[in-house]
Amino acid sequence: MFDSLRVPVIAAPMAGGPSTPELVAAMGRAGAFGYLAGGYLTAASLAEQIATVRRLSDAAFGVNLFVPGIRSIVDLSGYVERVGREAERYGTQAGEPRWDDDGYSAKLDLLVESRVPVVSFTFGVPSDSDVDRLHEVGTTVVVTVTSPEEAREATEVGADALCVQGFEAGGHRSVFHDDPDDPCGGPLYGLLAGLRLCSAVTDLPLVAAGGIVRGADVAAVLTAGAVAAQLGTAFLRADEAGTNAVQRKALDDGGRPTAVTRAFSGRPARGLVNRFLREHTDHAPAAYPQLHRLTKPVRAASGQAGDPEAMSLWAGQTYSLAGGGAADEIVHTLWDEAREALRRATRRFE
Ligand SMILES: Cc1cc2nc3c(=O)[nH]c(=O)nc-3n(C[C@H](O)[C@H](O)[C@H](O)COP(=O)(O)O)c2cc1C
Repeated sequence: MFDSLRVPVIAAPMAGGPSTPELVAAMGRAGAFGYLAGGYLTAASLAEQIATVRRLSDAAFGVNLFVPGIRSIVDLSGYVERVGREAERYGTQAGEPRWDDDGYSAKLDLLVESRVPVVSFTFGVPSDSDVDRLHEVGTTVVVTVTSPEEAREATEVGADALCVQGFEAGGHRSVFHDDPDDPCGGPLYGLLAGLRLCSAVTDLPLVAAGGIVRGADVAAVLTAGAVAAQLGTAFLRADEAGTNAVQRKALDDGGRPTAVTRAFSGRPARGLVNRFLREHTDHAPAAYPQLHRLTKPVRAASGQAGDPEAMSLWAGQTYSLAGGGAADEIVHTLWDEAREALRRATRRFE
């Protein structure tokens, strides 16, 4: 599937607003590829987004889903109190910290019915039978992995391709099992090390994600054996992205480091360091999506107040080098830069 792309660049799924049908369609029209982010959406809104992509473009596209995890049994009372104080500060009430499966089965049924060209899974592997159902309707199944162990598991379940996510990546780490004793939820592999280690345990095509922001990085991962480069942060400020204005400004301002935290959602994710992240990271239990629901009104109120200090400002390590503009221009620049970088590197081998 990704082998046949005119430009082997993928706009990563980015749940919570940034991924829009307009962004996905623009990627397709540019000869590249885009994902809708099915996480947090109801099946009905995801169906509308799929219909809009199809109205705007004939190109292939993908949809990403979060695989539900096991409900963690942890005492949340201390964290509920902390977030309660944040809610008071922003004049709102904390959300109910309940577990749910994000409407997974309804969304999977929708994707089977809609015959979406590519479906990717994050936070775990789909069941054998779900993979079979997708294959029966001709869908390519991709699983995001962060380690060679996960790559082996995803290969065994019948995935057609893997997206290897390095620790540089913005947003949630795709670890299958969030290890509560590890602040990052599991081992940290940089993108090149992850690609190399995963290619040693699977023959599946690998897509590379994490910190890719320039064409030279696209050339680097293709040279390292990836079939395509998947970029999230590089498209966060694209004209077609639905990224919140306060987050766009924080990205434009630069200057903040990024860090991995469970403070906002209960699962490790990389974002710009702000007050909420600094004050709560060390206290946040591994309890997704309970913390996601608990902090949601606080994050929303912080955004509405134009205050970036209590929002989840997901972004990858190289965010300061990403810019804005139309998605097709970003794609063309990346591809021109990639070709130039490869030409320059090739001279070293002559
Ligand atoms: C704002 C944001 C939201 C994200 N949401 C998702 C998501 O819904 N599903 C997913 O598989 N990955 C998600 N990711 C991770 C991306 O798929 C990808 O791994 C990451 O963006 C790559 O690193 P980069 O941001 O440095 O390019 C998200 C990343 C960001 C920055």
